[in-house]
Amino acid sequence: MSGLRVFFCGSLLCAIGAASPQYVGSEACKTCHADIWRNFFKNPHYKTIASGEEPPGKTGCESCHGPASEHLAAKGDKTKIVAFSNLDPKQTLDRCLECHANTIGRAQIRRSSHTLAQIPCTGCHSIHRSEAAKQLLAKPQVDLCGSCHRDVKAQFSLPFKHRVLEGAMNCTDCHNPHGSSAPTWNMGARPRMVEAALANEESCLKCHVEKRGPYAFEHPAVRIEGCGSCHQPHGSMNTRLLKRPAVFTLCLECHNGANSFGRQADGITVTASFHNMADPRYRNCTTCHVRIHGSNADARFLR
Ligand code: HEC
Ligand code: HEC
Ligand code: HEC
Ligand code: HEC
Ligand code: HEC
Ligand code: HEC
Ligand code: HEC
Ligand code: HEC
Ligand code: HEC
Ligand code: HEC
Repeated sequence: MSGLRVFFCGSLLCAIGAASPQYVGSEACKTCHADIWRNFFKNPHYKTIASGEEPPGKTGCESCHGPASEHLAAKGDKTKIVAFSNLDPKQTLDRCLECHANTIGRAQIRRSSHTLAQIPCTGCHSIHRSEAAKQLLAKPQVDLCGSCHRDVKAQFSLPFKHRVLEGAMNCTDCHNPHGSSAPTWNMGARPRMVEAALANEESCLKCHVEKRGPYAFEHPAVRIEGCGSCHQPHGSMNTRLLKRPAVFTLCLECHNGANSFGRQADGITVTASFHNMADPRYRNCTTCHVRIHGSNADARFLR
């Protein structure tokens, strides 16, 4: 081990005089950090070594941990290298973004709720001890997100839910944990890091494509307010993931005034018999308004 160090000192550092830390190459870490080195060839970051084309500052261990000559000279002084355990969240973020800033998926990362809440990349990714098969996640995704968002995870155990816990889909089918742009639906409400699908639509539509329309007669609640005005995206006590147990209470949140619910005759509102809410038969609005997401045949969504 010491032989190795002498080798480096002789050939590189001492020759340069080691005024400022120099790059020594990843091989130099092998002896002291054998466990990390041994697994590193499986890491996607190994590509920076394998390509052999990157400058020293962008190659291997030192691409993240910085030039290591002084760390070696001191036989492993933690203060003489970029040690993430000494970095604050912003410094960590900056380090990773030196290479990852260009990716579109993370364009919003600096404004994302996670960054604002001081959760850096390493809150979710583990470079050396990833337990997940993909993307260097610290844990499989549902466990990872669920470890901080316990309340949300619990919603996926409600009687009606998207089957996230069962592995049929992921949080990232709807969310971008790196942040998202303000959505075009829901009129600029807080985006909640919901990922827009194709053409800036709600992520729901990439799976529920038949709800996309366009319809000759759109229901503005779907097109403008968005799916979340009637559905709970994670899970619900109510069938069809509806926000309210009885459909009519949902509809009446918007169709409450005389002008938006009830037949109008000569400017006077007369409730039609089939809209008589005193009669339970008429409370399930969608028995008649069957095309509730929009219709190509009828302005009242009756067919
Ligand atoms: C001579 C043995 C030796 C060599 C060679 C060596 N290290 Fe270390 N390194 C250590 C020791 C010992 C520690 C623990 C220091 C401590 O905990 O204070 C350490 C700590 C570290 C840490 C800090 C970990 C933390 O706690 O956050 C990093 C990062 C690191 N080494 C990276 C490297 C890299 C990269 C290389 C190769 C360029 C390398 N080391 C080469 C001995 C070595
Ligand atoms: C893509 C950036 C990156 C690369 C490349 C990288 N590391 Fe790390 N390293 C980290 C981060 C981040 C941590 C903090 C712990 C974590 O989140 O995994 C860390 C932690 C460490 C630690 C101390 C803590 C621990 O987990 O034991 C050592 C030692 C270390 N790295 C050595 C190395 C060596 C040796 C290499 C090359 C084989 C290397 N690193 C390559 C980012 C990197
Ligand atoms: C809140 C958790 C979280 C944080 C914080 C986070 N990530 Fe991720 N990241 C993920 C998840 C989950 C995936 C997998 C996404 C998927 O499966 O579609 C991912 C995927 C990736 C990927 C591979 C896929 C892609 O989009 O290119 C890269 C690279 C990446 N993250 C880098 C970073 C960097 C760099 C940071 C910090 C600047 C960061 N991540 C912060 C959770 C996170
Ligand atoms: C020197 C540039 C560089 C730095 C710094 C860097 N990365 Fe990477 N990262 C890469 C490259 C190159 C890849 C491989 C991309 C590919 O597969 O095409 C990668 C891939 C990834 C992936 C995707 C893994 C997968 O399975 O697709 C994640 C996640 C990631 N990096 C996270 C991080 C985090 C977190 C940090 C900061 C601790 C970081 N990176 C720092 C260059 C870098
Ligand atoms: C280390 C803890 C941690 C992990 C892991 C984590 N989050 Fe978060 N998340 C937070 C914190 C803290 C906030 C900010 C809470 C707030 O602002 O109310 C947040 C906020 C959010 C928000 C709300 C955004 C908003 O604007 O209200 C979403 C959505 C979210 N996280 C999704 C995820 C997903 C998906 C994952 C897994 C890929 C994940 N989180 C992993 C801690 C975490
Ligand atoms: C089917 C799509 C979908 C899936 C899957 C999904 N979410 Fe969400 N999530 C949403 C939507 C849409 C919102 C915004 C709701 C709003 O604006 O009120 C949201 C809101 C959130 C919020 C902020 C509001 C709150 O309820 O605290 C967090 C945190 C969150 N999701 C985390 C997660 C986590 C963690 C997972 C995976 C375990 C996940 N989500 C899976 C669609 C989804
Ligand atoms: C990754 C694909 C995917 C995404 C994205 C998605 N869903 Fe789903 N959704 C499904 C699948 C598959 C089912 C079938 C139920 C199951 O998983 O058991 C379902 C079921 C539903 C149901 C219940 C249907 C029934 O017959 O009971 C509603 C309502 C629903 N989703 C609304 C939404 C909303 C709102 C969003 C966006 C916030 C969304 N979905 C995003 C795949 C998706
Ligand atoms: C105005 C309220 C409302 C809005 C907005 C809304 N839905 Fe629905 N949705 C309903 C009602 C009510 C039902 C139950 C219909 C029934 O039981 O016949 C339903 C049922 C569903 C179902 C299951 C039955 C089916 O028709 O496939 C899915 C999937 C669904 N909605 C997805 C969505 C998606 C995706 C969006 C956003 C693009 C959305 N919904 C927006 C009210 C709404
Ligand atoms: C988030 C608010 C909202 C919710 C919830 C909502 N709607 Fe609407 N709905 C509207 C708006 C806005 C219009 C357009 C009204 C107009 O053009 O005067 C509309 C139009 C309609 C129309 C077409 C008739 C017309 O006046 O143009 C029918 C029928 C209808 N809604 C039924 C329902 C039913 C049934 C439900 C419950 C499943 C429901 N709506 C839930 C906002 C909502
Ligand atoms: C028995 C069938 C039936 C039920 C149940 C029903 N509707 Fe209607 N609704 C109709 C018919 C038919 C029209 C069209 C009347 C017309 O064309 O003049 C209509 C029209 C409407 C309109 C358009 C404005 C108006 O008053 O003409 C709205 C809004 C509406 N219904 C909402 C609802 C809501 C909300 C519920 C549940 C609380 C509901 N409907 C239950 C049959 C029904």
